[in-house]
Amino acid sequence: MRKAIITALALAIPTALAAGPAEDTIAARQGYFKLLGANIGVLAAMAKGERDYDAAAAQAAADNLVTLSTYKPAHLFMAGTSADDFPDKTRALPKIWDNLPDIESKVADLNAAAVTMQAVAGQGKGEMAGALGGVGGACKACHDNYRAK
Ligand code: HEC
Repeated sequence: MRKAIITALALAIPTALAAGPAEDTIAARQGYFKLLGANIGVLAAMAKGERDYDAAAAQAAADNLVTLSTYKPAHLFMAGTSADDFPDKTRALPKIWDNLPDIESKVADLNAAAVTMQAVAGQGKGEMAGALGGVGGACKACHDNYRAK
């Protein structure tokens, strides 16, 4: 049984990696940022009145932002995955790789803003909206420096 599972895995893995490790890393990186975007999107839609404020959903989105910003993203910035290497596939500017400690510190800044959001997200629309600028600012601080337009 165990042998069958291992054989099945061995057959499945090369297919999963068919795009190549660099492309897979770019896709994983963009997936990570999409998750951040999806969660801040929930909060932003409530703040703008595009959807009703829902304390439980707001709290879940804030909790997710904290979880995502404690993720260790170093592997997502594998060498050879910049916009110079894959111009049609990624907007990650090459200067990221000269500033990896700053990338880590920008993720830490995002975590601090997310923790502030987490403390108030479930307490009311005004409280949640008041913390949104801090989170959005932490996203923007990195995009302005390290993401192509
Ligand atoms: C540490 C730097 C950094 C931080 C912090 C950051 N981003 Fe990004 N983001 C990037 C980079 C670099 C890209 C380009 C990734 C690529 O194309 O490979 C990106 C891409 C994205 C994308 C596009 C993903 C795709 O589909 O291609 C979204 C959406 C996004 N970020 C949302 C956010 C949100 C929301 C936050 C804050 C909650 C955030 N990001 C925080 C650096 C950052």
